[in-house]
Amino acid sequence: MAHLDASGPTVAVVGATGAVGREMLAVLEQRCFPLRALRVFASPRSAGSTLPFRGTSLTVEALTDAWPAGIDCALLAAGSGISKTMGPKMAASGTVVIDNSSAFRMDPNVALIVPEINMHADNAHSTKAGTSPTRGRIIANPNCSTIILLMAVTPLHRAFGIERMVVSTYQAASGAGWQAMEALERETRDALAGAAPRATLFHEPYAFNLFSHNSAVDPATGMNVEEQKMLAETHKIWNDPSIRISATCVRVPVMRAHCESVNITLRTPATLADIRRTLAAAATDPNYGGIRILDDRPANAFPTPLKAGGGDDVLIGRLRVDPSQLPTPPTATLDTTPTRGFDMFIAGDQLRKGAAQNAVQIAERIFTTAKR
Ligand SMILES: NC(=O)c1ccc[n+]([C@@H]2O[C@H](COP(=O)([O-])OP(=O)(O)OC[C@H]3O[C@@H](n4cnc5c(N)ncnc54)[C@H](OP(=O)(O)O)[C@@H]3O)[C@@H](O)[C@H]2O)c1
Repeated sequence: MAHLDASGPTVAVVGATGAVGREMLAVLEQRCFPLRALRVFASPRSAGSTLPFRGTSLTVEALTDAWPAGIDCALLAAGSGISKTMGPKMAASGTVVIDNSSAFRMDPNVALIVPEINMHADNAHSTKAGTSPTRGRIIANPNCSTIILLMAVTPLHRAFGIERMVVSTYQAASGAGWQAMEALERETRDALAGAAPRATLFHEPYAFNLFSHNSAVDPATGMNVEEQKMLAETHKIWNDPSIRISATCVRVPVMRAHCESVNITLRTPATLADIRRTLAAAATDPNYGGIRILDDRPANAFPTPLKAGGGDDVLIGRLRVDPSQLPTPPTATLDTTPTRGFDMFIAGDQLRKGAAQNAVQIAERIFTTAKR
């Protein structure tokens, strides 16, 4: 393989043929991650097929129970079942596991990391690794909608304190893997050919439609699993269970990149100028970055999935005061009125910052000297 670096780790991508796995290869290549070697694993169905990487091709290996020795880091993107059965085995053999599934996110022994926000939570990774064979060797990547949300609002939480958030998501097909992307394409083609709407993968037709997120709905609370994840994972990442969050998660017929409408209530009042200044400072902060303000009112130009797709940054726009937080909203001076309520609309590529890029950034922090 070209561009190998003997001082780098040996990395395995597990689930390399999937939507996230393929993106992991792209991100490792684009970020020039120093690799001693790279191995790619998937199901036996894909064994022997090849994937392009740095101008050459990698042969896919079937994942078996026998995890090979000598792999320093495994980036897992093969679903929570594989993570649950294979993650602890990999960790016990000395591999640092960075897992994209939900298998370990809420495990109190597992750090749930967005590097810009809480890399410090990974202090178990090396220091406590001796307390159990796997402790600290499994790190969880948060849910994609949660990562995108927290990248946009954490600078505001740090500056003014966020007391409450109301979030509505507009989630892309690729968030549910390659089969969902194929379903959207197939159903769109069929609809354009005149066929009646028909659900071929999800519980509702996908083309020219949108529907409540496909995860299971809790009959007791009415919240689906995606919404529950946004609550629980935000509390864990911010280490603050007092934040009040209400989420409505919706799947939309977009191929790539999730959008979110976000309403926040701050603990300390601020002006819109304060909000813009804080976000702009975070966008250029070498210890943060990864966000970009795209908020052009005269041009009606704001974040979209197409603008966010394929990029590293979470885009933030539609920044405005929430008039419902003011008893009698002063229409002429709304922008300059200090208040606790603000609205925004954000977009981020959930295959990149919501999954592959975040995982590779964690690996960089552990195995290389790169900061971002
Ligand atoms: N898609 C997203 O935006 C996103 C975001 C955050 C987190 N995640 C999480 O990332 C994981 C992967 O999601 P995805 O969207 O990439 O799914 P996907 O497109 O369906 O890909 C699944 C991958 O898992 C592999 N796999 C399936 N069964 C396997 C087995 N028995 N042994 C080894 N590999 C096996 C598949 O290999 P074959 O090709 O051989 O079947 C494929 O490479 C999931 O846990 C998901 O929740 C996804």
